[in-house]
Amino acid sequence: MTANPPTRLVQLRERTRQVLDRYDETELRRQAHPDLSPLLWHVGHMFFVENFWLAEQVFGDTRVTDPWRTLYFPELCAKGERSARLPEPAAMRAWTEEVARVCDAYWARAAETDHPLLTDGYLLSFVRQHYAQHIETMRMAEAQIVRARPGNVSSPIEPRPLGDSFVAQAAGDVTLGTAGIDAYDNEQPAQSFHVEAFEMASRPVTNGQWLSFMADDGYASAALWDAAGWDWICAEAITHPEHWQHGDDGWQAQDLDGALGAGSDDPVHGIGWYEARAFARWARARLPREAEWETARRRDALPASETVWEWCDDAFAAYPGFTAFPYDEYSLPWFDGAHFVARGASRHTEPDVIRPGFRNFYPPTHRHVFAGLRLARDI
Ligand code: AVJ
Ligand code: FE
Repeated sequence: MTANPPTRLVQLRERTRQVLDRYDETELRRQAHPDLSPLLWHVGHMFFVENFWLAEQVFGDTRVTDPWRTLYFPELCAKGERSARLPEPAAMRAWTEEVARVCDAYWARAAETDHPLLTDGYLLSFVRQHYAQHIETMRMAEAQIVRARPGNVSSPIEPRPLGDSFVAQAAGDVTLGTAGIDAYDNEQPAQSFHVEAFEMASRPVTNGQWLSFMADDGYASAALWDAAGWDWICAEAITHPEHWQHGDDGWQAQDLDGALGAGSDDPVHGIGWYEARAFARWARARLPREAEWETARRRDALPASETVWEWCDDAFAAYPGFTAFPYDEYSLPWFDGAHFVARGASRHTEPDVIRPGFRNFYPPTHRHVFAGLRLARDI
């Protein structure tokens, strides 16, 4: 019998299941975007992963994982093949409840084992963060669903000038990375790092400022773009943020929650790293390096926006002394020069993964990930 499953974990599981009530089976099963999985797959994957680490890896129980591993390990099933193999929503709900019962019995027995994954509560933190990140990814898929329907359209966005204040940061040695059980492998080992003096804008770039970039032919000015970014926007005919559309009265955003966050002075998102770099050039600035971003955050000089992730200039790379943990695929394959760092959090980020050292990472063309930008400059 099980006593007291961890409270936060119970909440995250319930938040995960709630998506089953919000959409019909067609929507739950549909792959709404080529880079996203069906909502139903996320639900199955999240419970599978909890069970894999706790029941299979720690306690050697493969009863839940065996029938599902070729669907729910992302490496074993291509995104486009997931939809047809998923159970019906009612069966999924019942399965998640069964998996949670199995896991709760093992969480209650955690003290019996000295398995290294359980030291200091590491595994519970890892599993919580895994749910948290996929809940945000499900919001990305939900945003795609919302945009395929009428409604949820903002008021017209008005152009806004540049000219935000910048906050100067002195050169110095700062600690980067996260120590302790919450850290993902890519945040470790925490270490001292020297940054030169720089300055960073006091807030992220806004929707209105993005409109000014568009009005000034930002998407048509090759000189502002990295060569690969220019090729990409030309090939894909990209001329505005992913979720903007031109209506009778001008540009409007169509987004989750009644286009919350789509005001002219709210942070822009729906843009990829290439677009962020082009905007920064247009503004005679640059993206912050992630060491600068984390320095500003740790010095308490700049609150993170927490409504959009902020693209940083850097390719996602290992810190010196990196060791993959607890599995290679979380970070290692993405140190490939083709993924770029985003810092902070979006309005859809669960608190479990909000910390100064957390590193998110995506390809430079991903525009569905709730990321915007903040400007920085040398001094
Ligand atoms: C860090 C958000 C890019 O969603 O692919 C979830 C997080 N890794 N399960 C992703 C992740 C494995 C990852 N991101
Ligand atoms: Fe995952």
